[in-house]
Amino acid sequence: MIGCGYLGAVHAAALASLGHDVIGVDSDGDKIALLETGAAPFFEPGLEPLLVQGLASGRLRFRRRLEEAAAAEVHFVTVGTPQRPDGSADLSAVEAVVAGLAGVIRTGALVVGKSTVPVGTAARLADVIVAAGGRLAWNPEFLREGLAVQDSLHPDRLVYGLAEGDASSEEVLDAVYAEVLREGMPKVVTDLATAELVKVSANAFLATKISFINAMAEIAEATGADVTQLADAIGVDARIGRRFLGAGVGFGGGCLPKDIRGFVARAEELGTGRSVAFLREIDAINLRRRERVVELARESLGGSLAGRRIAALGLAFKPDSDDVRDSPALAVAGMLADAGARVVAHDPAAVDTARLRRPDLDYTRDLGQALVGAEAVVVLTEWGSYRELDPTEAGSVVAGRRLVDARNCLDREAWAAAGWEVRSPGRPARLPLVARAG
Ligand code: UDX
Repeated sequence: MIGCGYLGAVHAAALASLGHDVIGVDSDGDKIALLETGAAPFFEPGLEPLLVQGLASGRLRFRRRLEEAAAAEVHFVTVGTPQRPDGSADLSAVEAVVAGLAGVIRTGALVVGKSTVPVGTAARLADVIVAAGGRLAWNPEFLREGLAVQDSLHPDRLVYGLAEGDASSEEVLDAVYAEVLREGMPKVVTDLATAELVKVSANAFLATKISFINAMAEIAEATGADVTQLADAIGVDARIGRRFLGAGVGFGGGCLPKDIRGFVARAEELGTGRSVAFLREIDAINLRRRERVVELARESLGGSLAGRRIAALGLAFKPDSDDVRDSPALAVAGMLADAGARVVAHDPAAVDTARLRRPDLDYTRDLGQALVGAEAVVVLTEWGSYRELDPTEAGSVVAGRRLVDARNCLDREAWAAAGWEVRSPGRPARLPLVARAG
């Protein structure tokens, strides 16, 4: 497994638990040192037990140098493809790994790309590997952060992209995934280009679905309608489905934003930019939602944020993760501070990762401390610990019972009943029951 980030570390541990001998390789010595002790370099529920189990069984090892994995029969490429300033994907890590593998692999070895790459990359890389006596296949990964272990052990589909005339790689991949295949999920065997596209188009579709409902939130805001009831009503239609119709502060993370931008950049290179031009709008809708949440906080504080004390609850791009890459939560906390608010930001897992990007914000790991004296509370990530907050208890420590539920994840009736004024994207304001009665 070449590359031990979110994807590689989880996949390495999962394959070891399925009975394979796995060597995880990463040039980052600190990461390898942690993994060798069974510690995950990032927050991912269920990963550490799997690492510990794999290391103890002797089937899982971590090394710094590619050469130490030279004898492997199958090499997975799981390095990152970050976004370049122009939106396109930076392939330098994938290209370096493939060039390195070409120098060390055994004749007949199978190199399997898992990284998300622009369509057309795999065919180019296949030439390098074939010239070195190996074969290359593409096997995109759909794992979700926070659920990565489950998604690796029980994926909902397997996609194999094979080069033209490659008659043997399917069998090798079937052997790798024998345990998983027994569960009977769909397996799609296709060409390299389709396999690359499956990954980006899946993420583009999910991003579109989220921005669709966020666009409806904008319409709801202009008309007094309620976007969550709208989502419930359209979501019961099985052709539409309720999942990924959660309106709020929008999507973030290491995949969705980067993948739609990379897709647009690649389509433009191919001369088919118009086909995915709508993804620019998807991106724009998504980014507008951050401003809207800042606006809701400003409105609830009577028109100005300057000098006001705000508890920002959540920094990670989603719960059960410490990932703040392109996180709407961290972005909004930063925007509130930039507008002059005195922000105290809390997250159960992402304070350290957030501090690296925004060292200037005030952080706390103590939820109570974030709430004490706050004039407004803004919930930015739907962590369980925020959903479980008792509105009466929380109300007794804040300086003002103003809540902005940017994820539409709290029971707004219960908060309003406890005297809170609740604002949330795409929904009419919920005034405290006391005030309404008065
Ligand atoms: C995503 C894909 O789901 C996964 O298949 C792929 O392999 C990697 O990218 P992930 O980045 O872990 O996974 O996050 P995901 O659960 O898809 O959520 C992405 C973002 O969308 C999060 O910021 C989340 O909060 C947001 N989201 C999700 C919404 O705003 N509304 C929703 O209804 C659902």
